[in-house]
Amino acid sequence: DDAAFLDSITLRFTITDSSHYHIVHCLDDTEAGLQFFTDGMLLVKDGKVIELGPAENIRAQLSADSLIIDHGEHLICPGLIDCHVHFPQLDVIASYGAQLLDWLETYTFPSEARYGDPEIAQADANFFIDELLRNGTTTALVFASVHPTSVDAIFTAAQQRNMRLAAGKVLMDRNCPANLQDTPASAYHDSRELIEKWHHQDRLLYAITPRFAVTSSDAQLAAAGQLAEEFPDTLIHTHLSENLDEVAWITELFPHARSYLDVYAQHGLLRERSVFAHCIHLHEEDYQEFAQHGGGMAFCPSSNLFLGSGLFDLKKAHAYGVNVGLGTDVGGGTSFSLLQTINAAYKVLQMQKQSLHSAEALYLATLGGAKTLGIDDKVGNFLSGKEADFIILDNTPTPLLARRLAQAHTHKDALFMHMILGDDRSISETYILGERVYKKGTVSS
Ligand code: GUN
Ligand code: ZN
Repeated sequence: DDAAFLDSITLRFTITDSSHYHIVHCLDDTEAGLQFFTDGMLLVKDGKVIELGPAENIRAQLSADSLIIDHGEHLICPGLIDCHVHFPQLDVIASYGAQLLDWLETYTFPSEARYGDPEIAQADANFFIDELLRNGTTTALVFASVHPTSVDAIFTAAQQRNMRLAAGKVLMDRNCPANLQDTPASAYHDSRELIEKWHHQDRLLYAITPRFAVTSSDAQLAAAGQLAEEFPDTLIHTHLSENLDEVAWITELFPHARSYLDVYAQHGLLRERSVFAHCIHLHEEDYQEFAQHGGGMAFCPSSNLFLGSGLFDLKKAHAYGVNVGLGTDVGGGTSFSLLQTINAAYKVLQMQKQSLHSAEALYLATLGGAKTLGIDDKVGNFLSGKEADFIILDNTPTPLLARRLAQAHTHKDALFMHMILGDDRSISETYILGERVYKKGTVSS
């Protein structure tokens, strides 16, 4: 049926002597689950993956009017997924000299106070989304600010680019500046209105977003839990056990809770599609609770190093079968690039005598992130029927990376070099639903 291919976009790769790889994705988190095609084609129609396979197989299905895009020796990979990032912290990146609680007071709260202004919120949301795309991030779980208008802004910007993105209004009713406080009642009603307005509009998903238990009263956490029960397919997004002073404060604020995680669990906030950023200072029982209730963890290594928070224990999360994705945590994190975030993750794990091979790193940044957000039936790899979000990794983005890639003996070595040496310069193109939304060297996407 020729007409079926009218709108197809096909990506074709040719073998040359110097190339070791062309299309890569993960089927699971094992080394064996990393699939490479050295002369592959990705057949896309109406924004969905029809098939990935050897070029000769796909070619047989093409009609004369199929559009074939040849990316030569560059590597095509699923769009990257950022499981924890703050859009109103664009101007907080690279703020000097403080750990979490001081950093929030000194830099972060003042910056977030500006997002009640819809014009600022919209302009910055557009900048933020463009920054995601130029770093190859096609899906993110985003903290907005306490202002509903900031949620409208980020969803509007994402919807204009057809992105699959989750976000929510921050809930905080204490221990923060008065101009940033909501109440249990307004948190409930504003969130509810935003869920009804945005959840499942196009590819958008709502995340119920209590900032952290320090800044939410019991009454507010209960309101968040009520929303979570009334809208069971929303995400839940918060911070957990990032910094030791924070954990000590939680013990004072909630003397009857078994642990920090327990504060959330008691309010029904630990369930499938709950995503907790950081998860550094946890108890054994906390891992068990994650395993039982299905919450996921966002590993934010760049932020955890920058704010001096501590080292995430990936091995332990794996041992308990907890879903883990990667978070840049901009502006606590110092880069929008998930490649740079993998670089930091590798070092954090080295400090604990743990390893991170390139297959697992790619998994964390793609399919693992999708699982953590509960959208692995939609994105994360190139299985037939998934949404066609993908990126082209330049294999000569810098002289040094070009030099090292030319020396790579295996696909996995090459992928590792991309991850350790790569950054935004590595992303030559970004595609959303089969449409190019970013090309390196152009000023605006
Ligand atoms: N804990 C509560 N709020 C924040 C935040 O904005 N960033 C980080 N990294 N941790 C938090
Ligand atoms: Zn954060």
